[in-house]
Amino acid sequence: MPSQSASQASQPFDAAPPANAAASPANRRLVAGWLFLLAFMIWVMVGIGGYTRDSGSGLSIMRWEPIIGVLPPMSQSAWAKLFALYKTIPQYQILHPGMGLHGFKQLFWPEYFHRLWGRLMGVVLLLPLVVFAITGRIEKRLVPWLVLLFFLGGLQGLIGWLMVSSGFDPDSTAVAPGWLSLHFFGAMFLFSAVLWTAFTVTAPEPARYAGFKGLRGHSIGSFVMLLLAMLGGTIVSGIHGIADFSVAKQIGTGQPPAGWPAGLFTNPATVIFDHQGLAVLASFAILAITVRVLRREAPPPVRDAALLAGGLVVLQFVLGVTALVSGKIDLGVVHQMNAVLLMGAMLLLIHRLRGATR
Ligand code: HEM
Repeated sequence: MPSQSASQASQPFDAAPPANAAASPANRRLVAGWLFLLAFMIWVMVGIGGYTRDSGSGLSIMRWEPIIGVLPPMSQSAWAKLFALYKTIPQYQILHPGMGLHGFKQLFWPEYFHRLWGRLMGVVLLLPLVVFAITGRIEKRLVPWLVLLFFLGGLQGLIGWLMVSSGFDPDSTAVAPGWLSLHFFGAMFLFSAVLWTAFTVTAPEPARYAGFKGLRGHSIGSFVMLLLAMLGGTIVSGIHGIADFSVAKQIGTGQPPAGWPAGLFTNPATVIFDHQGLAVLASFAILAITVRVLRREAPPPVRDAALLAGGLVVLQFVLGVTALVSGKIDLGVVHQMNAVLLMGAMLLLIHRLRGATR
């Protein structure tokens, strides 16, 4: 039986007396709580972004004004100006010719809140960071890393804008799928970075679980497969594949389409089939971890994280199938948000196994 010698591991927030006050349990609890809040805000942002995409709102604001764009139009003439701009793009001319100001406002608000939430996240990252740094409540080594994340958050906003601009191209009624994938994975990188940092502030010393190195390799491999399944999912979203489910045409029924793998990024039947195939592989890999931790006596922190990932992957699968078959875009958004939770659970598992030995 593998020993669970975790003697060198710290319990959450239970370190030996810290060499510097910034690393005291109280300060670490504060910093970790703030980072978990940020990760939560990114997760909410994924939901707002998914809704913005699926409601077709993303192209309604045709300017990138990081500072003054914080205010919505305040007068009739400001609304009229913005609407006049929108009337110049193909999405209006092809999908909504003759739409009135009321319809435009319905498109405007989700995109506006998406951008506003992004700005709010910037403030929630920067202000406490400055205060914690000045008052010595955060460890110095974390400051440059978090400043970098702040700038990467700004870059993510810029990528978002370039993505939106791709939807203004002639004959285009939506953003380019490639930009959508990049924007989604930018968000996933920020989410992972913030969450991993929060986990590390919570438990700085890795537990040395003996005999669990193999499970760590398995978890990292499954995480990579999960990322591939998610990449496939972003392409399904990007081409609005949810609308293409058809038993008659065998699209989305799990059958490899004729000519597969042609149309890797463009043919809905291929794109959906690939996402399903990658999702099945990732799901089996993650469920195998759950089976492994149940078959041997895994340390409770590892077991709990693995069970969480196993439960979320089953839910993810059910949500994916239900969204596809029902064609309900709101379920597509829930499916997307659950994918992020699943990713978080896998990161927790890998973090808890990071000091595992052979
Ligand atoms: C491990 C399992 C799965 C993972 C990790 C996963 C992940 C994802 C992600 C990340 C997205 C969209 C991301 C975005 O563009 O913002 C997505 C979209 C989608 N997935 Fe999955 N998925 C899984 C399983 C499935 C299954 C089994 C099905 C159906 C049989 C499915 C059907 C869909 C559909 C229809 C969409 C588009 C939803 C929309 O447009 O809002 N997924 N998936």
